[in-house]
Amino acid sequence: MSYNLLKGKRGLIFGALNDKSIAWRVAERAYEEGATFVLTNTPVSMRLGEIDELAKQCNTIVIPADATKIADLENLIKKGTEYLDGNFDFVLHSIGMSPNVRKGRKYDDLDYGLLSQTLDISAISFHKILQACRKHDAINEWGSVVALSYIAAQRTLYGYNDMADAKALLESIARSFGYIYGREKNIRINTVSQSPTMTTAGSGIMGFENLFDFARRMSPLGNATAEECADYVITLFSDLTRKVTMQNLYHDGGYSSMGMSLRAMKIYNEGLEYRDVKNDKTRS
Ligand SMILES: NC(=O)c1ccc[n+]([C@@H]2O[C@H](COP(=O)([O-])OP(=O)(O)OC[C@H]3O[C@@H](n4cnc5c(N)ncnc54)[C@H](O)[C@@H]3O)[C@@H](O)[C@H]2O)c1
Repeated sequence: MSYNLLKGKRGLIFGALNDKSIAWRVAERAYEEGATFVLTNTPVSMRLGEIDELAKQCNTIVIPADATKIADLENLIKKGTEYLDGNFDFVLHSIGMSPNVRKGRKYDDLDYGLLSQTLDISAISFHKILQACRKHDAINEWGSVVALSYIAAQRTLYGYNDMADAKALLESIARSFGYIYGREKNIRINTVSQSPTMTTAGSGIMGFENLFDFARRMSPLGNATAEECADYVITLFSDLTRKVTMQNLYHDGGYSSMGMSLRAMKIYNEGLEYRDVKNDKTRS
């Protein structure tokens, strides 16, 4: 259902890789809500070809950019604002990748060159986008910027590896830049901390299916889907949330406030019983 929440707004959306991507769903919803925007992703991901389908569906173009490269970002901002015939009212950063995770390096055996890449791609790119936009004055007064985060920024989750450090940095950048852009142009900057979601980036995390299942059992409302995340992000891009800034906003079905749930406890008990039978021990 459309509420015309973004009617007349122009935007820039990073990170739609395929129809599982959170950014893909945000683009679809933004289009439904009346926005015009440009899509962008790395040249490599563009060669996979799927983002062109999304562009057709949303009646727009894709401008390639590696978000870690300033020259790419400047070209993107120039071409994007020209195509839209105006500055951006909203920007979505939906970018994450850890070469350490990809190469199976554990957190106590990180490659530091790869760690730098993880931080650059998944967090510092957010700073680069904001700095480039500010330099070119490319975001309108009362604009809204959102980046996607994960609760591993605050809590330790087995297997999330150096992405946890990247998310902590990402959330800090949202606060630090949120202060500057807020006081200067009333532009708000927030991160949305999303439930585990079955996407290409998500599935790369070690033990992701178990993490997904655990979060589902722990969350009173269940895991939030990519579509539900898109709905939430649309409200943050809309004029209904003009005084929300410098926040990390949990969109996780209640997971972040839970300690132990009945559903998770049942599985834990079953596991204990199984183990006790196996070890021929009685539980105390
Ligand atoms: N899937 C989850 O469980 C989950 C949970 C919480 C937060 N997030 C976050 O959501 C965001 C989007 O991820 P997703 O789950 O939709 O997966 P995804 O794999 O669909 O999206 C990740 C995107 O990052 C892009 N990217 C990688 N390197 C880039 C670079 N140098 N420049 C520009 N783009 C680059 C990829 O091409 C891809 O489109 C990420 O920040 C991720 O950490 C995901």
